[in-house]
Amino acid sequence: MPDDLIVRRAEAGDVDAWFELFEAVAAEGRWIGAEAPVDRVRAHEAFHGSLDADRAARFVAELDGRLVGELSVHRTAGVADLGMFVRDGYRGRGVGSALLAACLDWCRSNRAHKVTLSVWPHNAAGLALYRRFGFAVEGRLVRHWRRRSGELWDAVQMGLVLDETAPGSPFDDAGT
Ligand SMILES: CC(C)(COP(=O)(O)OP(=O)(O)OC[C@H]1O[C@@H](n2cnc3c(N)ncnc32)[C@H](O)[C@@H]1OP(=O)(O)O)[C@@H](O)C(=O)NCCC(=O)NCCS
Repeated sequence: MPDDLIVRRAEAGDVDAWFELFEAVAAEGRWIGAEAPVDRVRAHEAFHGSLDADRAARFVAELDGRLVGELSVHRTAGVADLGMFVRDGYRGRGVGSALLAACLDWCRSNRAHKVTLSVWPHNAAGLALYRRFGFAVEGRLVRHWRRRSGELWDAVQMGLVLDETAPGSPFDDAGT
């Protein structure tokens, strides 16, 4: 991980730099769900809405004086769902790992019993990163997401259980 990498909670003043990064990753067209052109108003609302919410957090990574990565996480009924991206040219240097470590600290201290995410099956870097942090593949959503091209893409669902001690369901599986 680069020595001068800073990971911190996002602030309102980050919105323009964050949106520029979000647009750039969306424009790559192959890594995140959002596709260009992204809706600026909705994106700004989502950004500001995640700052003060007690059930959500947004982290940003800064390197070379630039915003180079972000991770947002939303907790619903104890399950924290995350999404993240790192700027092209800054990937593979530990930025994603640092963001994910900060997120998992937040999840643990906010009593999440599980962390989930969704990743495209072709995203080798994402799959490698998530596996390294202990996420397991829990399923595959087949022909689930309609892209603007009309294509239907599969998505891989991954999960990381934080609470291993609570009992599970007392009922036997019905053989699904
Ligand atoms: C996925 C992503 C967030 C990872 O962030 P990052 O800063 O590159 O992650 P790190 O450098 O901390 O670690 C990446 C891991 O993936 C591995 N990796 C990188 N590129 C890879 C590739 N093409 N194939 C396999 N593994 C790869 C790295 O080796 C590293 O694992 P290691 O440390 O065990 O070797 C980043 O690549 C990214 O933003 N991609 C575009 C947007 C995106 O895919 N977002 C996630 C959507 S689910």
